[in-house]
Order: sequence, then C-alpha cells, then structure tokens
Amino acid sequence: MSAATVVVTGASRGIGASLARIWGARGATVVLSARGAPALEPVARDVERAGGTAIVAPGDVTREEDRVRLLERARATGRLDVLVNNAGRGFYGSVARIPAGELEALFALNVVAPLRLAQLALDPLTRSGGTIVMMSSVAGVVAAPRLGAYAATKFALEALSMSLRAELVGTGVRVLVVRPGPVDTDFRERAVTTDGHAGVRPRGAEVQTADEVAAQVVAAVDRGAPVLETTPFVRAASAAARIVPGAMRWIGAVMASRGRR
Ligand SMILES: NC(=O)c1ccc[n+]([C@@H]2O[C@H](COP(=O)([O-])OP(=O)(O)OC[C@H]3O[C@@H](n4cnc5c(N)ncnc54)[C@H](OP(=O)(O)O)[C@@H]3O)[C@@H](O)[C@H]2O)c1
Repeated sequence: MSAATVVVTGASRGIGASLARIWGARGATVVLSARGAPALEPVARDVERAGGTAIVAPGDVTREEDRVRLLERARATGRLDVLVNNAGRGFYGSVARIPAGELEALFALNVVAPLRLAQLALDPLTRSGGTIVMMSSVAGVVAAPRLGAYAATKFALEALSMSLRAELVGTGVRVLVVRPGPVDTDFRERAVTTDGHAGVRPRGAEVQTADEVAAQVVAAVDRGAPVLETTPFVRAASAAARIVPGAMRWIGAVMASRGRR
C-alpha cells in the first residue's frame, strides 16, 4: 500500500504514534491527529525520516468542525485508504458513583467521535476499498470492576462496528475492531479516576508495547481481518465471557474485593 493515505487519531503518543511510524516506514501519507500540534511534530519527523509523508492536523475529535477539517486534510491528498479511530481515554471508578457528566464526556470521545469520523470517511473509503479501524479493548467484551464506564464506551463501539461492518458488505469498505489488553502507554496515568487510583490489573495479563500492538494492527489491515485480539490473555477473556459467564462473574467479584482493600 505504498501510495496510501492513512488518518490516525491519537497520533501524538502511545499506540497511535507507533501506528503512524509503521505506516510512514511503508511510504504512506499519514495524517496525524491529536489536540496539539507541538506533540504531533516529533511523530511527524519520525514518519518523514522513515520515508513517509506526514501531515500534521491538530484538532479535538469531540468537535464536529475539527472532525470535518481532519477529513478534508485527508481528502486533499486525493485518496483515503485507512481511517484509524484510535484516540481515546480511560476512566476508573465505581459505577455506583460515576458522575453523569464524566460518562457523557467519555462517550463523546470514545464513541461519538469514531462514529462521526467513520461516517465522514465513507465516501473516500468506498472509492479506495479502504478500512476503518476501531480501537476497542478487552474492555469491549468484558466489563471489569471500576471499569464499567470505560467498558460501556467500548461495548458501544463494538456494537456500532458490528452493525456498520454488516451494512458495508458489498461496498468494499472493511471494519477492523482491535481488542488489546494492557499496553505500556500513558493511558492509565491520563485516565480520569473518581478516587485517585486506577483499576486492578488482572493477574496473568501480559503487557504489550505500543509498537507490538501497532505492528499487529497493520498486519490485520493487510489481511482484511474483521477482529484482532492482540494477546492470548485477551482471547481467553473474550472466549470465557461467552462460554463461562458464571466463572467471569466470580473473577469480577474477586477483583472487586481486591480493589476495596
Ligand atoms: N493502553 C492500554 O492499556 C489500552 C488497552 C486497550 C485499548 N486501548 C485503547 O487504545 C487507544 C489508544 O490508547 P493509548 O494507550 O495509546 O493512549 P494514550 O497514550 O493516552 O494516547 C491517547 C491519544 O489520544 C489523543 N486524544 C485524547 N483526547 C483527544 C481528543 N479529544 N481529540 C483528539 N485526540 C485526543 C491523545 O492526544 P492529545 O492528548 O495530545 O490530544 C493521544 O494521542 C485508546 O482508544 C484506548 O482506549 C488502550
């Protein structure tokens, strides 16, 4: 995909920055989105050094005018091959005390923004036979204690993606849902918490690097996969949620009691 144009949201750090660098190394034109230009500039330099073309397109994906402007920057390259809806944020706190405003803000970023960007990208993606990547999580299929609000956004993203994938059959546009487990980024530190501490990490959940996840995502786009579960832990949790829900309820209760101590 050497002449490809790829839009990556949340490209200033973490998984998004890794994705931008990999597509840059493949010679792609990478449109980089995050809220501030200064944080995007070093990633843009990496993309160019790797042999790609970088377009810095700062904006807040929760604002409609910024979303429209982002897609216009991509359209100006003449094509759009991949939209990566990666920007997102965590939230840790008891469901019993989630402030409604926090939940709305989380949905605006993790659900409404990727949906609207996908809608805006449909025409150019249909012309190229391109791919929409939706960055979900293991929390898109399992809601651990203290992660209910975040999981609700990822469950919603999963549902929208499932319907959209079916609706797009025959158009040539693919939808790839990505479910990472824990990834070593700033995600936990930047998540909003209601009581100052993050969630309990399940034992046995291996932590991946952003580069590892990004390499898996690019390979999954290449092979036209509908879903990517990035580790054995995610695959096991995802299967267990469907096959042995009672066991998952017990594990959830144990995690919640550990979190109270
Ligand atoms: N890390 C994990 O353990 C993990 C596990 C499973 C799934 N995920 C998912 O993977 C995705 C990326 O996570 P990450 O770990 O790479 O997180 P991260 O390091 O915190 O990066 C988040 C990115 O989103 C951008 N962003 C946040 N709010 C934005 C807004 N309103 N408008 C535009 N950009 C915005 C940030 O840029 P600015 O702050 O510069 O705007 C940053 O580039 C998220 O969707 C997350 O839910 C992460």
